[in-house]
Amino acid sequence: MERFVYRNPTELVFGRGSVDLLSEYLPRLGRKVLFVYGKGSIRKIGLYDRVLVAARTAGVELVEFPGIEPNPRVSTVRRAREEARRAGVEGILAVGGGSVIDAAKLIAVSHSYPGDPWEIVREPLRVTSALPLGVVLTHAATGSEMNANSVITNEETDEKLGWAHPLAYPLFSILDPHITRSAPRDQTVYGVVDMMAHVLEQYFHDARNTPIQDAWQVSLLKEILAAGRKVVENLDDLDARETLLLAGTLALNGTLSLGLRGDWGVHAIEHALSAVYDIPHGAGLSVVYPAWMRYVAPRKPERFRRLFLELFGTEDLEAGIRALEKAWRELGAPVRLWQLGIADEARFPYLAQKAVAKEGATTGRFAVLTAEDVEAIYRLAA
Ligand code: NZQ
Ligand code: ZN
Repeated sequence: MERFVYRNPTELVFGRGSVDLLSEYLPRLGRKVLFVYGKGSIRKIGLYDRVLVAARTAGVELVEFPGIEPNPRVSTVRRAREEARRAGVEGILAVGGGSVIDAAKLIAVSHSYPGDPWEIVREPLRVTSALPLGVVLTHAATGSEMNANSVITNEETDEKLGWAHPLAYPLFSILDPHITRSAPRDQTVYGVVDMMAHVLEQYFHDARNTPIQDAWQVSLLKEILAAGRKVVENLDDLDARETLLLAGTLALNGTLSLGLRGDWGVHAIEHALSAVYDIPHGAGLSVVYPAWMRYVAPRKPERFRRLFLELFGTEDLEAGIRALEKAWRELGAPVRLWQLGIADEARFPYLAQKAVAKEGATTGRFAVLTAEDVEAIYRLAA
């Protein structure tokens, strides 16, 4: 293991009925709070009204900022920050999935920052203060509810970049499986793929002596897949929803990376696709991962063999990759670019440049990939 320091300050409020506790938590955000949400699903499921009631009970004034889009844009964050400043809010409440939370994080840390929020995405060390952020999560997927990461799109430059800062952790996150039952089938599946991808990114590492982390990772992958299969059979399956909700958080709250540094190349390769084509993150991941594995596994087969043996009972690399593709296809996830309407191979060099730009000239740690490697992976995904 590598030496590590671990601290996660987010207070997790988990379980059936936990939304009822919102009124107790809201005052921690201040007396006047920016209420950030997405395109309106929370109204359809009655959550919007419950938030208003909780605020009335708590004596907290809400200033609404609706309309955060999936793959949230920096232009939206700019408008939200203006609204937050104009209204003089003391904190932020994000009610939604990863997109709403990620946007809220950037609003929170840029509130008193004099420059443009995109400067923080590019250089997170510019952050010196943040408004307190509370979360009511509606969708099991990203883990944003209990981490310091945020992913923002700059639509003017075709960039989608992750950034992180210790001040971006939510103060509290409320996770109620009831709320996630209304997540539509496709989004639910993308969430399953995303959390599996987070575990995989951390499974592919070069650290020695990580038996506990390896066992956690493999068992999470198995349980996510099992619960994913149940939930696509019955979107109302509360036990499976509950399992996925916990899994999504555990997959990216830092515990799986204790003492190791994961790969994260697939995420960079996917973010380039989302930036240019505005596709859902999980749908991009189920396409890129098998292609990445076909490219990387023959060069560094050992951990792949162990993984495929645990998950699918085979040490054969191609058989393992096919088994993963089959599992995702059966859930309803795409596994080739054409299924996402992406067929323009002439753009692969442009996408590959985007994928490596953040780190300079390469992406990934377990498999260090140049732009040429990434192009080859897009071709394998076509
Ligand atoms: O806009 P609303 O009305 O909220 O509807 C959303 C949206 O259309 C809908 N939805 C969410 N919960 C629902 C629901 N519909 C009905 N009932 C519910 N209970 O689902 C759609 C997708 O929501 P979104 O928040 O975009 O999904 P997700 O949670 O998968 O977040 C994806 C974003 O997070 C980033 C991704 O790149 C993408 O931008 N990521 C963030 C990470 C992080 N902060 O740690 C890590 C990830 O790797 C990822 O990159
Ligand atoms: Zn992800």
